[in-house]
Amino acid sequence: MALHQGSLAILENNVGVSDAVLLDPVSEDAFIENLRLRYQHNQIYTYIGTVVVSVNPYKTTPLYTPNIIEEYRSRNIYELPPHIYAITDEAYRSMRDRHLDQCIIISGESGAGKTEASKVIMQYVAEVSGKGENIDTVKEQLLQSNPVLEAFGNAKTNKNDNSSRFGKYMDIEFDFKGDPIGGVITNYLLEKSRVAAQMPGERNFHIFYQLLQGAKLSTLDSLKLTREINDYNFLKGGVLGDVATMNDQENYDTVMHGMEVIGFTSGEVTSLFQLIASILKLGNIDFSHRSNDDGTDGCDLSNTAALDDAAELLGCSSENLTLALTQRTVEVRGERVKRDLSVNDGLYARDALCKALYSRMFSWLVARINDSIKVTSGSRTEVMGVLDIYGFEVFEQNSFEQFIINYCNEKLQQIFIELTLKEEQEEYIKEGIEWIHIEYFNNAVICDLIEKSNIGILALLDEECLRPGNATDLTFLEKLNQACQSHPHYESKALKKCQNDKTLSHGTFRLKHYAGNVTYKVDGFLDKNNDLLFRHLSQAMYQCKHCLMKGLFPEGNPSQKSLKRPATAGSQFKISVTELMKNLLSKNPNYIRCIKPNNVKAADNFDESLVRFQVRYLGLMENVRVKRAGYAFRQLYLQFLYRYKMLAGPTWPRWAGKPQEGVKILMQVQGVPEDEYAFGKTKLFIRNPKTLFDMEEKRRQHMHVLATKIQCVYKGWKQRTLYLLMKRSQVIISARFRGYWGQKVYKKTKAATLILQCFARGWKARALLRKLKREKLEIESANVIRKFYLGWKVRKEYQPRFRKIAGPKISRFFVIVLRKKFLLDLKRNLPSRSPISTEWPECPKRFLGASDQLRVMYHAWRCRKYRRKFSEAEKYKMKEKLMASELFKDKKEGYAKTVPMPFKGDYQDLLANPKWKKLQSQMPQDSHVVFADVVQKIHRANGKAVEQLLVMSTQNLILVEHHSMMIKYRIHITDISAMSVSPNPDKVIVFHLQKHDNGDGSCKKGDFVFVCEHTIELVAKACLLIQNLKDTLPEVHIAPMLKAHFGKSEVQLSFKNGLTENIPGGVKVVRKKHTMDVLYNSPSQQTSSGS
Ligand SMILES: Nc1ncnc2c1ncn2[C@@H]1O[C@H](COP(=O)(O)OP(=O)(O)O)[C@@H](O)[C@H]1O
Ligand SMILES: [Mg+2]
Repeated sequence: MALHQGSLAILENNVGVSDAVLLDPVSEDAFIENLRLRYQHNQIYTYIGTVVVSVNPYKTTPLYTPNIIEEYRSRNIYELPPHIYAITDEAYRSMRDRHLDQCIIISGESGAGKTEASKVIMQYVAEVSGKGENIDTVKEQLLQSNPVLEAFGNAKTNKNDNSSRFGKYMDIEFDFKGDPIGGVITNYLLEKSRVAAQMPGERNFHIFYQLLQGAKLSTLDSLKLTREINDYNFLKGGVLGDVATMNDQENYDTVMHGMEVIGFTSGEVTSLFQLIASILKLGNIDFSHRSNDDGTDGCDLSNTAALDDAAELLGCSSENLTLALTQRTVEVRGERVKRDLSVNDGLYARDALCKALYSRMFSWLVARINDSIKVTSGSRTEVMGVLDIYGFEVFEQNSFEQFIINYCNEKLQQIFIELTLKEEQEEYIKEGIEWIHIEYFNNAVICDLIEKSNIGILALLDEECLRPGNATDLTFLEKLNQACQSHPHYESKALKKCQNDKTLSHGTFRLKHYAGNVTYKVDGFLDKNNDLLFRHLSQAMYQCKHCLMKGLFPEGNPSQKSLKRPATAGSQFKISVTELMKNLLSKNPNYIRCIKPNNVKAADNFDESLVRFQVRYLGLMENVRVKRAGYAFRQLYLQFLYRYKMLAGPTWPRWAGKPQEGVKILMQVQGVPEDEYAFGKTKLFIRNPKTLFDMEEKRRQHMHVLATKIQCVYKGWKQRTLYLLMKRSQVIISARFRGYWGQKVYKKTKAATLILQCFARGWKARALLRKLKREKLEIESANVIRKFYLGWKVRKEYQPRFRKIAGPKISRFFVIVLRKKFLLDLKRNLPSRSPISTEWPECPKRFLGASDQLRVMYHAWRCRKYRRKFSEAEKYKMKEKLMASELFKDKKEGYAKTVPMPFKGDYQDLLANPKWKKLQSQMPQDSHVVFADVVQKIHRANGKAVEQLLVMSTQNLILVEHHSMMIKYRIHITDISAMSVSPNPDKVIVFHLQKHDNGDGSCKKGDFVFVCEHTIELVAKACLLIQNLKDTLPEVHIAPMLKAHFGKSEVQLSFKNGLTENIPGGVKVVRKKHTMDVLYNSPSQQTSSGS
């Protein structure tokens, strides 16, 4: 067996045998001697197969350090010295790896070290499971639930300073990784009688002392408490002062810390302490006797201060609380009547209330802790249960509580027997393994005695409780005596077989438990089993304002009408124990059997007889024998093969044949000696666990090989994938790089080539240029030379004749140069283009002739240019003006004034005159009016002037009556033969008409004399019209004396200046016989100038 290294040096020198199966000889003495030997060497743990036997050392041992935990972590059970860690590790791993729910059952009598063992288990699990913020919180909460529950549920007894006064089963729940994620605590029957009274040498529950000793004064004040334990009736009865192994002050702090970690609010903690304080206060209430008038007994409260405090702490009125404690309501013939309580009844009611209050508060505490540690996620959980239930107890006086506790221990023993002794042996027979039966004591008979329905002690007790009539504890005992008189495990003074037994007194019965005889006093059995609280007390509590009270006393709710009797304490316990057994049986059990070495709680004190007693009743020797004769391990063939098939070539990776055949081959290949294993019908049995551990170890090593193979393949695949990826990447990268590089080189080469090309071309071009330049230079040089040569040659030739030839040539040259200069100067200094301009630049005498010619040419050219700008109408107007000029220039006075005035023609705006338009429609040939103006027609006969409208169309000369627009005369233009005007400034005009032989009407009267404002225009226009029609100009006479033919007479017109009157037309005509004198008004002398 491998021994510890380093930290476990203390265990290095293994003493005795660590597994009792290896004892030789197998005897009780040898077994106990082995235990003693080991105990003396602080080796407190010994195996019986996989069961751990633990002997309480009653001293601190270095067995629980973190280093040792590390040693045991993931190691097989037989690799290291026996330890709770080893079986915890085994259970933990098989839960985590094989998904088998586990339970660890710790049994042993009170003070044997069960609670300590359960803490060791939890410590180990917390240490080896995973870490993390959430997980650590859960672990811490699970661990901290211990001190809190111990404070409220443990007390000093005569057997154990820290005795658990309640049963505890804790399921620790793990996730698939094996990390704790929560838990559930189930509590079993708290020994509540301890609240009101304790046996000599014992104490009340720790919390009372811790609160008084540890809390600050201010806290105590608020709870109306004092530090003095003696001040409280409920504490006075027990041990006063400190217990040597307990430090209440320190423990108070630990409990407060624990509650904080679990998540209690300060309000919840205060509420709890208020209840504790109120229990202490209630305990201090005293009752005094009072005789009522009706002869009944009554009672009064004598310590009202305590009552007031309690009432205040519970949140109710003192009166109500007083009434609740001194009176009760009873139903008499359907009516509710209040009855006073006697002093004893009052005391009973007070204690019952305190016990109920405490036990219900304890249940609330467990529920509150469960609330904090419960698993919130819905995922599947693996469970490891740890059972630490009160141990077998034998006191001097044993009551209902001990009966219940011992019944529970009987059941646990039963389970142990069932699983380790009975079932195992039965299995060998069932599987056909050769087997010699080993005798053991089966305590089923005691279990039956207690729990069997109808006839068991619990059933009889219930029956007595429910029975109408006067049932007392003694009537119950009688009933028991009757029912169990023949039972081998039942004894009572009343029975014949025990009449001489001095150890039995009246009012008791004795049960021969598996662990020894216990005499129970029946006193209080009925009461405790009934566990009834007066209804009016529950109601009073329900009415309290304290926040927990409604939850703690739900039956006090007045609206809850049901008066159904609650199940008795005994039957409730039986039910919960049955449930517990069912739960344990559903899990894989692991055992820790605790042994108490002495009754004085002393270290290094091995009381052999006490140990022997425990070894016997725990059935440890039977356990050793069965283990030794039997096989340590069994498993179905298929499962076994599946687990170890890798250990043999033929079975790996698959076995095609029968599983048993495969297992056979496997065992042969492994070389396991044949007496080490046996083949059952369905299972393989292995005798020595070491064989299995060896195989397990080989499997582990093989798993390494397999894992390595898997890793190899995986790593290979992974590396190959990586390699392929890298290769692909490399190809891409190098392609890209080559491309990039090639491009770079190409660009460089291209640039270099271009530069080279440029240089080469430049060089070539420069060479060519040089060549061409040279050629050009050569040609130019040759030309120069040639010119010089030719010059020289010509000069040489012409030199003799130079004077003769050169003179005229030079003069010709100069003439040409001067001519060119003259023309260019003239071109630069040409005068304006106006036809009337007379300027002309100066010129050398030599070119005067040419200059004159050019001047004429230039003038003609600019006149032509000017003319070309005119329209036909303008040209005609110019023609008229020209005609006027030709006729009158320098011939008639007043002509010059008319030159700048344009010839308007139609001075009367005839075209706009409707009357004329009408008239004209009758004369289509006169549509084009050339002249129209009002004129004075001189009467031929008397020389008077008559105003008439003179219209000259292109065809006719028409005289119209100015106002009536009646045509007076219409003479064809061609009929006008001549016109006469004087040279004077008068405006007289004579139209000479042709003399027609045919006697034309118009012409018959002779020539016309008019005075017209526009004489010159009229004459010029008439001349042009006549020329147009006849191609010859009519005669125009301008003479101081004019002749006119009026019919057959000829009249001479003479002109005289000097009219003074203002006559229209400015002319006065006087007719004489052959003359006509024209007196005119000469305007201011005007100078006439030609145009
Ligand atoms: N493994 C141990 N190492 C040291 N002392 C122990 C050990 N087990 C128990 N004890 C001592 O024995 C006392 C009683 O143990 P406990 O576990 O409370 O007994 P049980 O729960 O069986 O009644 C403890 O208070 C402790 O002092
Ligand atoms: Mg305990």
